[in-house]
Amino acid sequence: MRPMHHIISTREYTTEMFDEILEMAEKLEPIAKGEVGSKIMDGKILALLFFEPSTRTRMSFETAMLRLGGQVLNMGQVEASSIAKGESLSDTIRVTSQYADAVVLRHPREGAALMASECSAAPIINGGDGAGHHPTQTLLDLYTIKRESHLENLNIALAGDLKYGRTIHSLCYALSRYNAKINLVSPPELKLPDRIVDDLLKRNIDVTVTTNMEDVIEDIDVLYMTRIQKERFPDPAEFNRVSNSMRITKELIQTAKPEMKIMHPLPRVNEISYDVDDTIHAAYFKQAFYGVPVRMAILCKVLGMENEIREMTE
Ligand code: CP
Repeated sequence: MRPMHHIISTREYTTEMFDEILEMAEKLEPIAKGEVGSKIMDGKILALLFFEPSTRTRMSFETAMLRLGGQVLNMGQVEASSIAKGESLSDTIRVTSQYADAVVLRHPREGAALMASECSAAPIINGGDGAGHHPTQTLLDLYTIKRESHLENLNIALAGDLKYGRTIHSLCYALSRYNAKINLVSPPELKLPDRIVDDLLKRNIDVTVTTNMEDVIEDIDVLYMTRIQKERFPDPAEFNRVSNSMRITKELIQTAKPEMKIMHPLPRVNEISYDVDDTIHAAYFKQAFYGVPVRMAILCKVLGMENEIREMTE
């Protein structure tokens, strides 16, 4: 029997592992757009267990599964499940993983997906664990960079909440596989944790740190902006101090290269002004769409259907 393939973090992924998913996603794009039909997941069920709010991760996984001919089982609101009666996460996983072929789990506790993988009867896909990892977002971010800019010799600014932003933490490790130059732009209170900076330096990655976007805006290929994660601040006063500290405006990006792309995992609150949406730089809504082909590829990988994708598109 083939060992279960969980997706918990992309920290240890090699370039080959990333490239395999990105290449499958490219082949699956016509199905993701609804231009071509598919039934390769006929008879397969994907369970969605979301203990935190989500629009994109939850709905793009649903779309991916439905477009591939599979079905989706959504636990729905936590209050309507037996967790409200005190059932533990591990018991919930033990039970629900027997109802599906794979489980997407989003949970506020860092490490929840890893714990779930140790007691699950089906592959676990981490849909975000607290301030930990968000590997499927990382894969769709890489895909967006590949499609809208370039992965090799990339000069990227990671901006906003670098302390609590799990998409940033996962993306840093992935970009290190492609030798990107990484510019960290944040207020001092929201800087990237030292352990991650140390890991990047150990991987010989060129890292710069600044509080001022104007220091890097002219040179970068991609600006990856993030929301300040209000829900992760232990002290609301600390959030209030930094909540409006960074904002991308049309004026700020005037000196950017014409091909510079702005990405954001979304949702945005006020960190990108709405008039940026109509500029040639805005790539964040396309990025949200790319979640569909990438999550299709992830499902194929987790369910061991890579050969079907190869045969289907040859
Ligand atoms: N980017 C992202 O994870 O969005 P959601 O929280 O809406 O899933």
